[in-house]
Amino acid sequence: MRVLVTGGAGYIGSHTLVELLGQAHDVLVLDNLENSSPVVIDRVNALTNGNLEFVEGDIRDDAALDTVMDSFRPDAVIHFAGLKAVGDSMEQPLSYYDTNVRGTIGVLRAMDKVGCTRIIFSSSATVYGEPVYLPYDEAHPTNPTSVYGRTKLVSEHIISDWANASGGTGILLRYFNPVGAHASATLGEHPDGVPNNLMPFIAQVAVGKRKALSIFGDDYETPDGTGQRDYIHVVDLARAHVAAVNFAQGAKGAKTFNIGTGQPYSVREMVAAFETACGKDIPVVVAPRRAGDIAAMQADASLAKAEMGWAAEHDLNDMAASTWAWQSANPNGYED
Ligand SMILES: NC(=O)c1ccc[n+]([C@@H]2O[C@H](COP(=O)([O-])OP(=O)(O)OC[C@H]3O[C@@H](n4cnc5c(N)ncnc54)[C@H](O)[C@@H]3O)[C@@H](O)[C@H]2O)c1
Repeated sequence: MRVLVTGGAGYIGSHTLVELLGQAHDVLVLDNLENSSPVVIDRVNALTNGNLEFVEGDIRDDAALDTVMDSFRPDAVIHFAGLKAVGDSMEQPLSYYDTNVRGTIGVLRAMDKVGCTRIIFSSSATVYGEPVYLPYDEAHPTNPTSVYGRTKLVSEHIISDWANASGGTGILLRYFNPVGAHASATLGEHPDGVPNNLMPFIAQVAVGKRKALSIFGDDYETPDGTGQRDYIHVVDLARAHVAAVNFAQGAKGAKTFNIGTGQPYSVREMVAAFETACGKDIPVVVAPRRAGDIAAMQADASLAKAEMGWAAEHDLNDMAASTWAWQSANPNGYED
């Protein structure tokens, strides 16, 4: 298939490119490099057959989208491009609605013009909000608590409405917490500034960039008192996109899938796995709970297995070991 990947130079996108090219799909990336580097494209080419096409451009630029669609004529679009920092989204809501929602409308309009009928969309478990029950299944009520989460939920509705009206196919993938890096240690996550997520933070403590990890609350009702989350290895997540592209060929309308492991790990378990991977102690400081944090959450990911034949294969040790290999080989991300 010919697959256009928006935001393909980013963390999840880059790992997905490797898996798509490995399955002999033709792939073109459209990315404005706002949160990524052109080095990613070279590294993906080095890991694969080197046939990746790249166009630097913005999904909010209708003319750029039309040009790419017209020349590439995709069979499917994987739409990663977007802004993703929850805290930032509360301070800059219009910017988040503009990129994440208007950008999605622009992508759908450009697809319509060339008759492309399939889109795979990066949604998030954050659309669920506070758990009414656990594990979250796809029927769980949605009630996002951040602007970021609302941009994802609105985009899901837009894609569903578009698919139903046009006879197209929208696969909405609700990711849990992506972590880890490519086994080659040449692709991984390199957050700007202070990492928002646990694993990159632990990794930066391990390489000496930060002094200690703050554990926000160790008195939750979990086995060791620290918060539990459902972490998913980025390579498993990347493979879920390949499964979704294949599934989309035989599907119509919108379909939502949780993409997680169903196995939650606590902060202390993550730290212990990382200590084993890097052979060092990770200093931790216990701090008060943060407002809005919940004790535990995990996915029911059985639907993705039943319908797309996809399930996560990597365990916690793979997540920690690959993150450490990437972080220690690339302490400054793609600037090395
Ligand atoms: N990483 C997570 O924890 C997580 C969890 C759930 C959902 N998601 C979603 O998955 C997608 C990919 O996430 P990621 O972690 O790889 O993020 P990322 O920031 O690494 O990748 C996003 C890519 O999109 C590009 N981009 C941003 N705005 C653009 C625009 N206007 N035009 C063209 N390109 C643009 C960036 O340069 C970047 O390469 C995002 O939509 C994100 O919201 C991520």
